[in-house]
Amino acid sequence: MSSVTDAVGSFPQYEVFADDFLDHAQDGFYNAHYDRPACLELLGDVAGLHVLDAACGPGLYAEELTARGAQVTGFDLSPRMVELSRERVPAGEFRVQNLAEPISWLPDASVDRVLFALALEYVDDRVAALRELRRVLRPDGALVLSRQHPFGDWLRHGGNYFEDRVIEEVWSRGWRVRYWLTPLERTCDELREAGFLIEQLREGRPPAAAAEVDPERHARLDREPIGFLAIRAVPSRTCGWPAEVREGNHEGI
Ligand SMILES: C[S@@+](CC[C@H](N)C(=O)[O-])C[C@H]1O[C@@H](n2cnc3c(N)ncnc32)[C@H](O)[C@@H]1O
Repeated sequence: MSSVTDAVGSFPQYEVFADDFLDHAQDGFYNAHYDRPACLELLGDVAGLHVLDAACGPGLYAEELTARGAQVTGFDLSPRMVELSRERVPAGEFRVQNLAEPISWLPDASVDRVLFALALEYVDDRVAALRELRRVLRPDGALVLSRQHPFGDWLRHGGNYFEDRVIEEVWSRGWRVRYWLTPLERTCDELREAGFLIEQLREGRPPAAAAEVDPERHARLDREPIGFLAIRAVPSRTCGWPAEVREGNHEGI
């Protein structure tokens, strides 16, 4: 691991190992039995809803959401990830899109739920990206995001927990990744600045069923905050409203 300054940038890091990621995430403990159950639970019943899968990867979430009756639109920075999603979920609509840029092909308030799983760490201007997700979300919609638990990041990397920094690592499968380490309060602040209110935060205790898959990992994640966390956030009532409404010079709030 090495610490670097500046930014993650716009190079599609996952392009290099997209197929290997699919192989890993399809049935692997962390994705299939830990992150996906947590986010799917926070998303709730999606039947008949339009779900935007931001940073969709190879379409594993999109497949599950479609099976649950959702209409899925997804995007990813990696063209190979988009190809894999299209192959996996023919009913979905997938595009190459960088979270750093406006999602100009999606109108305001056009989706019921936004899923943003395990990709916040790769975005340099997270407030702008979250604002854009907020823009396309209906006012009565919800965003579900997951990220690496910052306490686990700090236990692994040490240093100043409160300092935002980009690190570069090579993971066990040889994947080279650059991503942001940020404290929990940063994610909370970024969500607020982007116009969201946190409704629920889950610190990443795995579901009971995951104990059958890997009892040791399950036991460890059930006592230590070293995996992922998941958040459900809703558009704040005042965000995007005219100033007189925000400032309360009106009746009816
Ligand atoms: C850990 S994978 C998660 C994939 C998927 N959400 C899942 O949980 O199965 C991270 C994904 O984020 C995508 N990604 C990283 N930076 C991005 C960006 N700036 N814009 C859009 N997608 C990005 C990567 O290409 C990769 O597919």
